[in-house]
Amino acid sequence: MQLSSAQKALLGDYIHADAAPGRFAVLNPADGSTLCYVQNQGAAETTAAIAAADAAFAGWSGLTAKARSIILKKWNELVLAHLEDMAMLVTLEQGRPIKETRGEVTYGASFIEWFAEEAKRAYGRTIPATLPGKHLQTIKQPVGVCAAITPWNFPISMITRKVSPALAAGCTVVIKPSEETPLSALALLTLARQAGMPDGVISMITSTTAKEVGEAMTSDPRVKKLSFTGSTPVGKLLYAACAPTMKKVSMELGGNAPFLVFDDANIDDAIEGVLASKYRNSGQTCVCANRILVQAGIYDRFTAALVERVKAMKLEPGWQEDSQLGPLINQKAIDKVVHLVDDAVAHGAKVATGGHVDGQGPLFYQASVLTNVTEDMEIFSTEIFGPVAPLFKFDSEDEAIRMANDTPFGLAAYAYTRDIGRAMRVASKLQYGMVGMNDGVISTEVTPFGGIKESGIGREGAVEGLEEYLSVKYISYGGLGAI
Ligand code: SIN
Repeated sequence: MQLSSAQKALLGDYIHADAAPGRFAVLNPADGSTLCYVQNQGAAETTAAIAAADAAFAGWSGLTAKARSIILKKWNELVLAHLEDMAMLVTLEQGRPIKETRGEVTYGASFIEWFAEEAKRAYGRTIPATLPGKHLQTIKQPVGVCAAITPWNFPISMITRKVSPALAAGCTVVIKPSEETPLSALALLTLARQAGMPDGVISMITSTTAKEVGEAMTSDPRVKKLSFTGSTPVGKLLYAACAPTMKKVSMELGGNAPFLVFDDANIDDAIEGVLASKYRNSGQTCVCANRILVQAGIYDRFTAALVERVKAMKLEPGWQEDSQLGPLINQKAIDKVVHLVDDAVAHGAKVATGGHVDGQGPLFYQASVLTNVTEDMEIFSTEIFGPVAPLFKFDSEDEAIRMANDTPFGLAAYAYTRDIGRAMRVASKLQYGMVGMNDGVISTEVTPFGGIKESGIGREGAVEGLEEYLSVKYISYGGLGAI
């Protein structure tokens, strides 16, 4: 499956048909074909983009919030006007089913729309003075040039979730999209320029040398903030690299989400929740249910009902309209899933369905359910990032909470119960930044997304998302006389 002429038009001069020195291939994970080639940029281009962002900062931050909002709204409209082509671009370079990538485009656009509106609400405060003749005030100012390093699993929305609040606040941004998914990022850039984004306000660095680009971003004192979505080990390296220049950081890192199903849960609702949370994006999200903890009294009934639904899921190339699961992103991702399933089985887990790479291609892994999974298996402590649901058993509420919190990660957790007291106790005791209580779909542009513990720092989306790109300045006006 290849790029259409409409998709090529969105990508313009950013893509090339042929291999050449200084270019890298963008692959289609479903069939291994080369979609096109893009520029392989490095430290020099990153530093030039930072210089351009620095030069553009005064002009962009000097616009009224309303003027910035108008450009963001136009960008949102253009993204939605190109929904089908953008969605297919994501499907082609990332593998995700087309029904889901349409959602990725609207999810991505929702951040642009939300922050276009929030741009006008970066309010400061007036604080009652402690002495006569004084006026105490805070104002919010953009932090300056920002850098964003974004992942392949949500190649549109993870850019817009970082870049829209930055732009709304008055910051300028240099983005490094994942080398696996540069095309949807470049299409976003085209549409931003068409919307009237001035030169230097957004730049993009396509590169296979993430370390070199990351070093250029973190060592440059002109960059005042770094926002990263990716693995916890890389997040820690970037956090340390930002320390010498004391940059503000946002880190959206790994997860190990528990999904608790209590005896008193509505089982049908809980199954819908697991399907939505576990198999979204073929299991490749940071908030995917990673450990399904089921109370002993309903374990067998729950397992049978879940397995029946999972067996019916369609694993097919993402461009087929009824595809529900696509290929994983690359061989490394497959190797990890294979290893975790093999380790669990070697230690006594049972494969209730799936459990293998599928015959239709090397990157297709079957939708799987494992039973008899226990805490000593590697799958308990490792983020799977694939379509495998391991089912653990617990007896009491205390045991469920202990198991759920037994991880250095703290991004998202889910629980199903019809007991209001238990719902409130459990929500409060789960050590996570986000909790879905009787809800398997928690992500929206209007709520703060982010984790605690080793899952990260800061929040994206919502009013909190804008604050990440603003500095608070306190001004004390003295000698005013009686006011
Ligand atoms: C992620 O996996 O990093 C983002 C998931 C989401 O926004 O729901």
